[in-house]
Amino acid sequence: MKRVFSGVQPTGNIHIGNYLGALKQFVELQEDNDCLYCIVDLHSITVPQDPKALRKSILDVAALYLAVGVDPKKSTVFVQSDVSGHAELSWVLTCNAYTGELSRMTQFKQKSRGQESAPAGLFTYPILMAADILLYDTDIVPVGNDQKQHIELTRDLAMRINNKYGKTFVVPDGRFLKAGARIMSLDDPGSKMSKSAENIHSRISLLDEPGKIKKSIMKATTDSEGTIRFDIEEKPGVSNLLTIYSVFSGIEIKDIEKKYEGCGYGDFKKDLVDVVTESLAPIQKCFREIRESRELLDTLREGAEKAGAIAEKTMRRVKDKFGLGF
Ligand code: AMP
Ligand code: TRP
Repeated sequence: MKRVFSGVQPTGNIHIGNYLGALKQFVELQEDNDCLYCIVDLHSITVPQDPKALRKSILDVAALYLAVGVDPKKSTVFVQSDVSGHAELSWVLTCNAYTGELSRMTQFKQKSRGQESAPAGLFTYPILMAADILLYDTDIVPVGNDQKQHIELTRDLAMRINNKYGKTFVVPDGRFLKAGARIMSLDDPGSKMSKSAENIHSRISLLDEPGKIKKSIMKATTDSEGTIRFDIEEKPGVSNLLTIYSVFSGIEIKDIEKKYEGCGYGDFKKDLVDVVTESLAPIQKCFREIRESRELLDTLREGAEKAGAIAEKTMRRVKDKFGLGF
């Protein structure tokens, strides 16, 4: 059995990009692997958060994990800050990372752009992510394409430390889907769908109501050509909608193209509204039930215990290799 680890930040607005790029993989993988799925709250404080909203968001993401099909009987679901090993290992890794490699991270460059002085946590964010992964001897990390560079850094750190101190860490592999690994923004198909974009119609959140979903899709940027075909270069907006249609419906893109031959964007978009709304409805229903239940807190408590036991073992090994403590 392989060990799988992944995480999502509890920053609200979990969207269909998060779902199609990451969460869907979580569910598939739990059948044959030993999976840990984390709510990475320490990552989310790299940008200012309102404490009350953060608490709520942690429970929202936990409930969404379960609502999309993560089964706490099969997978370990827990909150990052409940296991102290993440921050502890992060420091050890920080001392083995170079400022040069961190300053090349595109996510850091994007998030710190325009700020005279960025929080140091934003700079060291990828190291904390490496700690999350290496703490559990992870083999596979299911994520969206935007995390490729962070996974590479994680592998580099693991190999660097293994070479210097002897085998300490498992070197993990990223797992990226062919379709869905990068869902683009609906209003600007040149950039990825994001939780923090100002325009709420740039994304479809998993908890959006049907009216909002309809509005966002009907407003989505297309082009003036008028034909429904997949062409990322020439038709990024339509191609993104085709991808969303395909991964939600399970119909191949070429068959969707055939189905809408001679149709206008309006008809295609109307059907896409139905496909997305119908796919999200059962998730939303499940979410509401789970979010109100006491079991959610029990699941997180049990998850933290299980994860904590693995983390403790790894930290003992790391301290031993580095000559730390007694
Ligand atoms: P985050 O919102 O940054 O916590 O991301 C959680 C997960 O969703 C990560 O695995 C990301 O790679 C993935 N993800 C985020 N945005 C997108 C997107 N637009 N398309 C596909 N996957 C995404
Ligand atoms: N950095 C990831 C993101 O923004 C979230 C994350 C934190 C993560 N730690 C992780 C993903 C460990 C996978 C494994 O999407």
